[in-house]
Amino acid sequence: MLSQILLTAVLATGALASPVECITGESDLEWISKNSSLPKVVIYSTGGTILSASNYSRLDNVAYGSGVGPTVPELIANVSEVLDVAQLAFVRFPAPGGSAGINSTLYLNVTQYANRHLCAEDSDIAGAIMFHGTNTLEETAFGVDLTFNCSKPFIATGAMRPDTYISPDGRSNFYQAVAAAASPASRDRGGLIVFNDRITSIFYSTKTNANTPDTFKALEQGNLGAFLAGQPFYFFGPAYPTGRPHFDVSNVTDLNSLPAVIIVYGHQGFDASLMYAAVANGAKGLVILGPGAAATSPSAKAAAADLYSQGIPTIAVARPVTGTGVPDPVAGALIYSSYVGAEQARVMLQLALNAKYNLDEIRDLFESPLRNAIFGPTANQQFYYGS
Ligand SMILES: *[C@@H]1O[C@H](CO)[C@@H](O)[C@H](O)[C@H]1NC(C)=O
Ligand SMILES: *[C@@H]1O[C@H](CO)[C@@H](O)[C@H](O)[C@H]1NC(C)=O
Ligand SMILES: *[C@@H]1O[C@H](CO)[C@@H](O)[C@H](O)[C@H]1NC(C)=O
Ligand SMILES: *[C@@H]1O[C@H](CO)[C@@H](O)[C@H](O)[C@H]1NC(C)=O
Ligand SMILES: *[C@@H]1O[C@H](CO)[C@@H](O)[C@H](O)[C@H]1NC(C)=O
Ligand SMILES: *[C@@H]1O[C@H](CO)[C@@H](O)[C@H](O)[C@H]1NC(C)=O
Ligand SMILES: *[C@@H]1O[C@H](CO)[C@@H](O)[C@H](O)[C@H]1NC(C)=O
Repeated sequence: MLSQILLTAVLATGALASPVECITGESDLEWISKNSSLPKVVIYSTGGTILSASNYSRLDNVAYGSGVGPTVPELIANVSEVLDVAQLAFVRFPAPGGSAGINSTLYLNVTQYANRHLCAEDSDIAGAIMFHGTNTLEETAFGVDLTFNCSKPFIATGAMRPDTYISPDGRSNFYQAVAAAASPASRDRGGLIVFNDRITSIFYSTKTNANTPDTFKALEQGNLGAFLAGQPFYFFGPAYPTGRPHFDVSNVTDLNSLPAVIIVYGHQGFDASLMYAAVANGAKGLVILGPGAAATSPSAKAAAADLYSQGIPTIAVARPVTGTGVPDPVAGALIYSSYVGAEQARVMLQLALNAKYNLDEIRDLFESPLRNAIFGPTANQQFYYGS
């Protein structure tokens, strides 16, 4: 109650807030602050369960869309401890249709703000967090991660339970995300997901459970850190994910202009005409989830080769939730994703096509980490693959 009143007063009068800053690139931010010595963390809010409420009961975690959830200032007031670790400002982003209705416009929009706010030479912002619906959090986060051009932490978070739940996870996730974004230990690691007491790399993380709070995992690569008493503890020093590229989208003015890329799901009896249909509908590239180590049916292989000859790349991703398709020693028409997952490969291909990569450059982008490891000069696989 006290914190609610305090924050309301801060927002209404600006009494406790530091004056609105006029630093290049962040003049649109208004800081909520209890202590002007604390690091600045900006919140990019695209909505999601973290800001949702049920009008049914404190046990409802399935049908809660209709309640009126907290606003960002209300959540800050409720988790008032965040103002003991950071000064906060927030920007709301339109995300029509909810997490499942979002497209590339959102990640382009968020990343342009994030680059302007955090990566300008005179920026004094320590880090950023993004609220996002969990259904497609990993996709927006991945799009921002590949286009964000500085070493500061960009941290995605959200919630699996509405704020009205008997023990909502969003409040804890919010505090932990702010603590991580304010911490210098979070720098130079690429984008991070903070969720359910754990820190994982955006590059490798995926939603693994449709219902429970312990959902975002990098199953093969593991956790980078955990939270104790609200503070992040990293198991390793800073390192970037292998093969994580950077794309500059600062010049993209039409946020609806990224090339379309479609994912098709390989299975017994796969209908390869879907691949042609996707291209006929405007897809400039395809991702195919192949069973096992990204295996494809003869008809899918033939369609991929045909489309490749027309300049349309198909990225093959392993269908099992862990593991990878290994590139052929001699490059063929299919391009293998290395350890990049299907949703992520779609975003990466979209960015590469937008950057006008040709087919060889696209192959290099996806395959070179594994290709170098398996067939490179130090690997000496001639015994198996003598040419
Ligand atoms: C403000 O934050 C700084 C840096 O963490 C800390 O040293 C100082 O004690 C804080 N001041 C107050 C009044 O809490
Ligand atoms: C919850 O909200 C929805 C839509 O606003 C409404 O249809 C429903 O009757 C409400 N339920 C309760 C228990 O208030
Ligand atoms: C946070 O919100 C819940 C639910 O509205 C309320 O019961 C609780 O008192 C609030 N806590 C604070 C510190 O504002
Ligand atoms: C980008 O985000 C800003 C800030 O919320 C919003 O005003 C603008 O409409 C967004 N642009 C698009 C294309 O969604
Ligand atoms: C920033 O962009 C440049 C040019 O694309 C790239 O070389 C560099 O690795 C990027 N830095 C980060 C931290 O993403
Ligand atoms: C963006 O536009 C500027 C000015 O025209 C140009 O110098 C720069 O190379 C462009 N960057 C990219 C990545 O296209
Ligand atoms: C993305 O979604 C917005 C809102 O639904 C829509 O206006 C826009 O055309 C979509 N853009 C693309 C590239 O599909």
